[in-house]
Amino acid sequence: MAEVVLDSLTRRFGDTVAVDNLNLVVRDREFLVLVGPSGCGKSTTLRMIGGLEPATSGSIAFDGLDVSHLPTEKRDIAMVFQSYALYPHMSVRANLEFPLKNMGFPRAEIESRVRGVADRLSIADYLDRRPRQLSGGQRQRVALGRAIVRDTGVFLLDEPLSNLDAQLRVSMRAELKRLHAQLARTFIFVTHDQAEAMTMADRIAVLSGGVLQQVGTPDDIYTRPANRFVAEFMGSPAINLLPGKAVTEQGRVEVRIDGARRAAQFAVEPAAAHNGAEVTVGIRSEHLSFVPSGAGSLSGVVSMVELLHPELFVTVDLGGLSVVVRTSTQRRPEIGEAVDLDFDATRSHLFDANSRRIPTTGESA
Ligand SMILES: Nc1ncnc2c1ncn2[C@@H]1O[C@H](COP(=O)(O)OP(=O)(O)OP(=O)(O)O)[C@@H](O)[C@H]1O
Ligand SMILES: [Mg+2]
Repeated sequence: MAEVVLDSLTRRFGDTVAVDNLNLVVRDREFLVLVGPSGCGKSTTLRMIGGLEPATSGSIAFDGLDVSHLPTEKRDIAMVFQSYALYPHMSVRANLEFPLKNMGFPRAEIESRVRGVADRLSIADYLDRRPRQLSGGQRQRVALGRAIVRDTGVFLLDEPLSNLDAQLRVSMRAELKRLHAQLARTFIFVTHDQAEAMTMADRIAVLSGGVLQQVGTPDDIYTRPANRFVAEFMGSPAINLLPGKAVTEQGRVEVRIDGARRAAQFAVEPAAAHNGAEVTVGIRSEHLSFVPSGAGSLSGVVSMVELLHPELFVTVDLGGLSVVVRTSTQRRPEIGEAVDLDFDATRSHLFDANSRRIPTTGESA
């Protein structure tokens, strides 16, 4: 068992609030990804959980036990960093043995554990090499091996894949997920890469400016973003955001996007948006489509076409603002072409003047 509970966790550096009153429950054996832009407090959070950084206030509990004042070695955690932090003068074997020797394990136990980990991570052939004689991907595996050899309840991983090339990164994602399933331990994984978060997480916690924005499954986060920040940060290409005005009448909520030919009906509680309220409409690129001239609620001019087989990303200038449309490569609009667009309002999002999500009918606020 290893449930990690962060209670009002705060870390200040002078005037900087790196982590601001963070409340988060990481479930036992969950793969939780902490994601957010550079400087949002991800590493600081992880370092506080690992005991490498003291909290300014708040507490951290593992399975109900307050560990806030316990040193790292008493916390039942193992950490993996972006830099790997392997001992360069030691062989791979010695690197893997190091934590076990430190803990006073008997020789036979050390050997059998190192063999087990080396087989599991396919590094058995490199045990006598030094880290510098390995590729980046192999080094990354050794760093993972050194973390799992101790068999702790919680694994803390800080951007462990960012030094790898794009292809290796994708294959290591799958390998890490497999490892997580086999080990059945709690993983807290930090990344600034939203795609990594989406593909790996059981649940994602999105941070911005040290403040937790939303916690949820990848589906929750993508289909019901809690605010504009989450909507924009998660998903690529970024969600299209267009300003508009709400019109509420007879229990219906319609929104007229600035410059649009007509209003679109949204399935939100009328009480959630008052008549005339300024709102922002969030439309993902896959929910916009080209329609015959004159038939669309939006019209504009194609300003950029990016081919990314098997898809096409088309930027359309709506007269000031622009949107990106994700479409198939079959019909390729040309730059300068006048086009009409429609969007699926049932799958679009509404944000209020404070950037908060306006819940759709039936969705709990
Ligand atoms: N030791 C420190 N002294 C002063 N300020 C710090 C210290 N460590 C972190 N900070 C500040 O705290 C904030 C959060 O930093 P942190 O390293 O947690 O961000 P991060 O989300 O991990 O970013 P990145 O994606 O770039 O690694 C930043 O504003 C950073 O400058
Ligand atoms: Mg960091």
